Amino acid sequence: MTTIRNIVILTGAGISAESGLATFRGPDGLWEAYRVEEICTPQALARDPDLVLDFYDQRRRALGSVEPNPAHRALAELDAAWPGELLIVTQNVDDLHERAGAKRMVHIHGELLSAWCTACEGRSRFAGAMLDRPVCPDCGCVGTLRPDIVFFGEMPYEMEMIEAALTRADLFVSIGTSGAVYPAAGFVRLAKAAGARTIELNLDRTTGSGWFDETRTGPAGLLVPQWVGEVLRR
Ligand code: APR
Repeated sequence: MTTIRNIVILTGAGISAESGLATFRGPDGLWEAYRVEEICTPQALARDPDLVLDFYDQRRRALGSVEPNPAHRALAELDAAWPGELLIVTQNVDDLHERAGAKRMVHIHGELLSAWCTACEGRSRFAGAMLDRPVCPDCGCVGTLRPDIVFFGEMPYEMEMIEAALTRADLFVSIGTSGAVYPAAGFVRLAKAAGARTIELNLDRTTGSGWFDETRTGPAGLLVPQWVGEVLRR
């Protein structure tokens, strides 16, 4: 039984599916209804700002009618109880990990509840509608706020901190992600190179399953509390 001190957990849209938030790929996925190029690129924002702002306004509004599920709550419990290092790296832009109580976490793809001013570069908490062209609270400009979401072609957030955590990891767990998007899809390899044990918890096997020591298939609401129970009882 290897000693586990430092844990890195990667989460994707699948961990929020049972809360009622759409995933991106697979049945009813967001990218079934929209083309990424039309929505999630800087060029799309420049070409059709109303379409892009409305897409994220709708997803921001949806946050008000969903709750964290047992998977989010189990990770928050692990975060609170774990004596070693722990980092939740979420690709999700919802706030369900925070609302479940998670503290040691980072949003690699940004957050729906954050606004980024294209005039002053300031980031501010934002819960309204960008279609209304709100005023930037930092510089007072009107209509310069964009979603603080990492679009395709933009730099993901906190990569140095994440890569440092992966080099120290004894255990890497990937939850509810298809492993379709880099750099997150490559984290399992960095963890393996650091000698970490690697586990995938996902509804189905993914293209990346071959990189994991173990893959468990099923709903996150069932698998994650089970796995957290195992880790805390070690
Ligand atoms: N429990 C566990 N896993 C689930 C569940 C569930 N209830 N429902 C779906 N899944 C799995 C699917 O099998 C799929 O492998 O979650 C995964 C979701 O994959 P994607 O929809 O591709 O979402 P994600 O991996 O988070 O996408 C990564 O792509 O579009 C970008 O920036 C966006 O952060 C996103 C990134």
